[in-house]
Amino acid sequence: MQIAPSILSADFARLSEEIAAVADDADWVHVDVMDNHFVPNLTLGLPVVEALLKHTSLPMDCHLMIDDPDRWAPGYAEAGARSVTFHAEAARAPVRLARALRSAGARAGLGLKPATPVEAYADLLPEIDMVLIMSVEPGFGGQSFLDIVLPKVRRARELVREGEHSVWIQMDGGVDEETILRCAEAGADVFVAGSSVYNTDDPADAVRRLRARATEAANGCWWRPT
Ligand code: DX5
Ligand code: ZN
Repeated sequence: MQIAPSILSADFARLSEEIAAVADDADWVHVDVMDNHFVPNLTLGLPVVEALLKHTSLPMDCHLMIDDPDRWAPGYAEAGARSVTFHAEAARAPVRLARALRSAGARAGLGLKPATPVEAYADLLPEIDMVLIMSVEPGFGGQSFLDIVLPKVRRARELVREGEHSVWIQMDGGVDEETILRCAEAGADVFVAGSSVYNTDDPADAVRRLRARATEAANGCWWRPT
């Protein structure tokens, strides 16, 4: 069970301090790159990622909500992001792109918007390291969790299990202490949390509480290896 706080809900004027606040408790820092084309919002890009990489030891999980990831995503891996997720809806050649990310030393993630089915990507699972399943429409933090994606999480977990792939399933959007139980039970093992971590007085404690809830929910459940 891994927790990846999203700095989308952090103070953008103090990003390195905000990452440091969770560095002892989180597994990753999740960085949302938005280009105002793939999604109707604009955040940050490679120069900011490069600057933050110099100031944190937490592995960086870059979530690229951008058009033309085939062109832009490898640069994030080359800069030192340990995980780079591009969207299935935007990639022109997902297999080539995933291979480029891996050969640049990153884990390759495939992102799926709420209405994008996972089955179409079943044959790609050997080429990737993580499936990111959006549980809100991408673009903004603080939205309500969409329960309609839970059957897709379950199907993704079944595909991973049947094929014996070592692919993580990440849930992103509306994850909090209550919804994380349903996500973990359905089969997610990496949890992105923005507002439920950074819109609190104690982000580190919020991460610890999320991890405890996810671990509790997943113990002995159907998909956990015994
Ligand atoms: C939304 C981003 C998320 C966002 C989640 O498009 O991909 O990572 O930060 O924020 P919360 O946890 O507040 O829903
Ligand atoms: Zn994200």
